[in-house]
Amino acid sequence: LQQPIAVFDSGLGGLSVVRALRDALPAEDLVYFGDTARVPYGIKSRRTVVRFAVEDARFLLQFDPKMIVAACNTASAVALDVLERELDVPIVGVVRPGARAAVAQADGRPIAVLGTEATISSNAYVHAIQALRPQAEVVGRACPLFVPLVEEGRAASDPIVRLAAADYLACLRDRVGVVVLGCTHYPLLREAIAEAVGSVAIIESGHETARVVRETLDAAGRLSAPARTGSMRFFASDNPARFRRIGARFLGCDLDDVQLVEFDHPIADIVADAPA
Ligand code: DGL
Repeated sequence: LQQPIAVFDSGLGGLSVVRALRDALPAEDLVYFGDTARVPYGIKSRRTVVRFAVEDARFLLQFDPKMIVAACNTASAVALDVLERELDVPIVGVVRPGARAAVAQADGRPIAVLGTEATISSNAYVHAIQALRPQAEVVGRACPLFVPLVEEGRAASDPIVRLAAADYLACLRDRVGVVVLGCTHYPLLREAIAEAVGSVAIIESGHETARVVRETLDAAGRLSAPARTGSMRFFASDNPARFRRIGARFLGCDLDDVQLVEFDHPIADIVADAPA
């Protein structure tokens, strides 16, 4: 039986990670849960994000995944240790892969990390980067307006996006060698961010995570047969119609079906009508 890779996020932003997984691992089945009823996580306390992340991951266990990917940077930053402890399934977050790529590309120059307030104040990226290179200089910048701007459909070329990017990021211009996009939504604003920070290497944590997932499954001999095409299933805890509409921009293609999950009576209902 084919075991899927399960992915969760605070909402629909993690579909940018699904897109990267799909590109890197087209043969794998993917199951995604977006906690659209409780998004955003990026302005919540550690305690709350940990609780939500554990519930999200537990929901996904019913699909018997070979691995769970915490696509949400905020959840990865504050809850990965708890998830690793609580779950009996390999779990990969987006922070360590992003940190690894940043260190590889920085060549001793300072590294900037952009993320939500919770991600930046957790210092998870700083710790992950300095675990690999203790002397590394790391600056964190929270860019809270970016998430709602992306969700509102604004493109990187939008004047309001460019203004916000300049306001948050002008202080980094010519001062860092690498910028890590440490949030699911920021790859969609990549051009505005690049324009604001000047000519530096830009790293997408989701992209690096797909690479790590591939390496990890390969090393364990658990990759699916390359000849097959993997399936995708989507679940959201609120407003599946909006998830489908806005999610297409993150995924780069249409989402056929999004199933609503209600946390009060979720697992039995979903299992009952899930295809075998
Ligand atoms: N998914 C979140 C992250 O990558 C961004 C949205 C939120 O704040 O929940 O940090």
